[in-house]
Amino acid sequence: DKGGWSSFMAKEVSEEPEAVANTIRGRVRDGQVVVPELDGMDALFADISRIIVIACGTAAYAGAVGKYALEQWTRIPVDVELAHEFRYRDPVIGPDTLVVSISQSGETMDTLMAVKYARERGARTLSICNTQGATIPRESDAIVYTHAGPEVAVASTKAFVAQITALYLLALHVARVRGTVSSAEGEQHVRELEAVPEKISQILDREQARIEEFAGWMADTRSVLFLGRHVGYPIALEGALKLKEISYIHAEGFAAGELKHGPIALIEPGQPVFVIVPSPRESALIHSKVVSNIQEIRARGARVIAIAEEGDAAVLPFADEVLRIPLAGPLMEPLLAVVPLHIFAMGLATAKGLDVDQPRNLAKSVTVE
Ligand code: BG6
Repeated sequence: DKGGWSSFMAKEVSEEPEAVANTIRGRVRDGQVVVPELDGMDALFADISRIIVIACGTAAYAGAVGKYALEQWTRIPVDVELAHEFRYRDPVIGPDTLVVSISQSGETMDTLMAVKYARERGARTLSICNTQGATIPRESDAIVYTHAGPEVAVASTKAFVAQITALYLLALHVARVRGTVSSAEGEQHVRELEAVPEKISQILDREQARIEEFAGWMADTRSVLFLGRHVGYPIALEGALKLKEISYIHAEGFAAGELKHGPIALIEPGQPVFVIVPSPRESALIHSKVVSNIQEIRARGARVIAIAEEGDAAVLPFADEVLRIPLAGPLMEPLLAVVPLHIFAMGLATAKGLDVDQPRNLAKSVTVE
């Protein structure tokens, strides 16, 4: 039931705040993350020396965001790999490896086969999944469910923010067990995460209509590029994937630092480029580097759409549009910056008269390898 919305995707984007809030619920005790499903597994988390995250599509980009938090908070090295690449390259894994799979459906065959392979090789497996009792969690040693609610539209939206949330909870849980984050810091991160749903709601309230309007003007666009750095990089990839999936427009995401090593050759007058601008409060250096990237592409005629935090005035002289996201704690920006990109993809596909829920050639859950 679309509940009055024009599409399931529109409904599911509107549910992004609850997807985050419901995934956090019941997993915070006295200001610290305690995931009840991981009770009794402290020894597992004490013993591992590496984490490999495996997933496909949007779930893999959630994993790529989660890597930053997992490494920063747990100090365990993390690799993120596409599930279908992982098992065919004789990976070095064993009992000290925790393989974290991420899947909305819990049925994606590529991911399932990779989990089975990891288990056969002696690795420990943990599944982040949105569907109770699905096959992948049943095949895993541990499960952390996302509570995004059923997702019907083929292109994943609310499950994506729930997956990042679950990864952050996992990171804080493991960091607590291993003592790599103090309880004061842990409490601070929890507060920042708990503030995210309200901030997503603000973006939906303040920016959705404007984004849909300019997506409407761009219905004839043939190519859109997305740039991001640090945690903004996987968000650029997700923005591009969503656009490909539902609006059939050529779209590519790049690491902003890579621009000068190739992609800048693509910039010609009028080329739309979304740039996810990191918070200047978090790192003035990274922020200034991304602002120079914007200047470089603007000088070559790019049409720049910046996603920047409120009050960041440095982008104003060089951006054609600035989409604002509220100030948030460190590492929380991806949960906010992705929302305008989901709205944009949906707005553009709608302007082209396409079925946003059932894009051509795609299935919600791919149960063949
Ligand atoms: C694709 C879907 O086929 O599978 C994507 O079209 C999704 O939206 C990907 O991200 C992975 O699916 P799941 O269920 O494993 O998260």
